[in-house]
Amino acid sequence: MVRRRLVSGNWKMNLDHLQAIHLVQDLGLRLSDGDVVGLDVSVHPPFTDLRSVQSVVEERRIPVFLGAQDCSSEDAGAYTGEVSPVMLARLHVTYVIAGHSERRRLFGETDGVVAAKLRAIVRNGMTPICCVGETAEERDAGTARDRLVTQVSSAVSALVPEQVAGMAIAYEPVWAIGTGSAATPGDAQEACAWVREAVGEVAGAEAADGVRVLYGGSVTPDNTAELVGQPDVDGVLVGGASLEAPSFVGIVRAANGAR
Ligand code: PGA
Repeated sequence: MVRRRLVSGNWKMNLDHLQAIHLVQDLGLRLSDGDVVGLDVSVHPPFTDLRSVQSVVEERRIPVFLGAQDCSSEDAGAYTGEVSPVMLARLHVTYVIAGHSERRRLFGETDGVVAAKLRAIVRNGMTPICCVGETAEERDAGTARDRLVTQVSSAVSALVPEQVAGMAIAYEPVWAIGTGSAATPGDAQEACAWVREAVGEVAGAEAADGVRVLYGGSVTPDNTAELVGQPDVDGVLVGGASLEAPSFVGIVRAANGAR
């Protein structure tokens, strides 16, 4: 099966709505339909920017999907400060990140919380990008694979196999995020293959074949082609380098050329 590549830009807590409009307009000027002919591109602005970015993307027909960085596991109710997946879907959000390591580490999100969010995302017709990844200590101790298998198994168990086949899982080693030192293509391939194998164990071969496994952590225009050239790496989740149009477009083009 040929999996369609995915390049996702996670803006994290950067860019207010005016800055977000500028960035997405700039992306619109630089990205041609040819750049995205063989792959999907998503941008994940802060919640307060979503409506503005949605308007610009739809008005100017910019070839990117709208994404969110997180959402509530609940659709509605007395959950002060949470953001409803129903409301995200109403804004034409297509992709929602769940279980980013910053949410797990800084905000105490457990595998159980992440699983509930995955169900909420799928229930509302959107596509989850579930993040998994080991810490430097776990890698040094030789337990990286166990950590990934635990995270992936919990995530995948929350969904039925057809839903798993349609989702994305981002392998993001915690030690590579925002550090400028990405995993080597060989290490990324090895870990992404572990992820796919774990998906197969829980959800079966078809789900393992369909699920898109992304690499994330210090992705740049220069290291994208080699990462995405690995057989089990179906795209990239980009933080810092997604905050400026030239570097993000460079990554999109590198990912599209690497086939
Ligand atoms: P980075 O972030 O590209 O800035 O390392 C990646 C991520 O956290 O998704």
